Amino acid sequence: MEISKLFDLKGKTAIVTGGANGIGKATALLLAKHGANISIGDFNLEDAKKTAKEIEALGVKAIAVSCNVLKDDDLVNLINTTVKELGGIHILINNAGGGGGGRENPFKISVDDIKRDYELNVFSGWRLCQLAVPHMKKEGYGSIVFTTSMSSINKSPNMSGYGISKAAVNHTVANLAHDFGPEVRINAVGPGATRTAALESVLTPEIEATMLKHTPIKRLGTAEDIAGAMLYFAAPISEWVSGQTLFVNGGGEQTLE
Ligand SMILES: NC(=O)c1ccc[n+]([C@@H]2O[C@H](COP(=O)([O-])OP(=O)(O)OC[C@H]3O[C@@H](n4cnc5c(N)ncnc54)[C@H](O)[C@@H]3O)[C@@H](O)[C@H]2O)c1
Repeated sequence: MEISKLFDLKGKTAIVTGGANGIGKATALLLAKHGANISIGDFNLEDAKKTAKEIEALGVKAIAVSCNVLKDDDLVNLINTTVKELGGIHILINNAGGGGGGRENPFKISVDDIKRDYELNVFSGWRLCQLAVPHMKKEGYGSIVFTTSMSSINKSPNMSGYGISKAAVNHTVANLAHDFGPEVRINAVGPGATRTAALESVLTPEIEATMLKHTPIKRLGTAEDIAGAMLYFAAPISEWVSGQTLFVNGGGEQTLE
């Protein structure tokens, strides 16, 4: 492949869930810098619109779609609106996620709390794949990337819902790769502790020092660090890569002990 094509996303359309802020926003901006038109699906419509404006300033098209990934109607609307406004779908970044990680004392939470972790981290992305893949096959190019987490392989207290739901993400992409090929690839990026609003709200200097004890590259991650791995999977450079999980974690793990 010509060098100029390896990271070229011109003429491609990418949906980024949770794209208004944090890792999703950095990913949306980086894909746009490589030429992709962007559809942001986020339940914070005000921030999604602001991010879409920043993206448009880069010279590509961007739309903000109100979408709570926990609602099936919103997922269907996100797909339909993207196809109608931007003409197709080539890339899907299943990034909106989260849950009760760190607060999941098994004697204080219920099975419903675990179900919610799965609904947010696994089922919503699985459903979007089901809706988006036929459009990708039609276009002859498809790349799906889930945001998983180091919690999917770490073993920690109070993480049993978030951790197992993110572990399910890794195995979801490994299996769906066999359903979606050859036109569509599917992979996951697993961030370590990354400085976004979610993390900053609980970070203290003491917590940061502990997290860096087992981190060879002595700093926490940035949203841009994670976006780089997203770009790799989204772009033609990774055309023979599917079913994989890539951890982006400063070479170690940011546990709390
Ligand atoms: N920040 C970290 O340290 C870290 C580490 C590992 C994994 N992750 C994962 O990265 C992903 C993004 O996290 P972040 O740190 O960028 O968060 P963030 O809070 O900075 O941004 C999340 C964005 O997603 C949107 N969002 C949240 N729930 C939504 C829903 N139900 N429907 C639609 N939009 C929704 C929010 O409005 C926001 O714009 C998540 O899947 C998270 O589990 C983050």
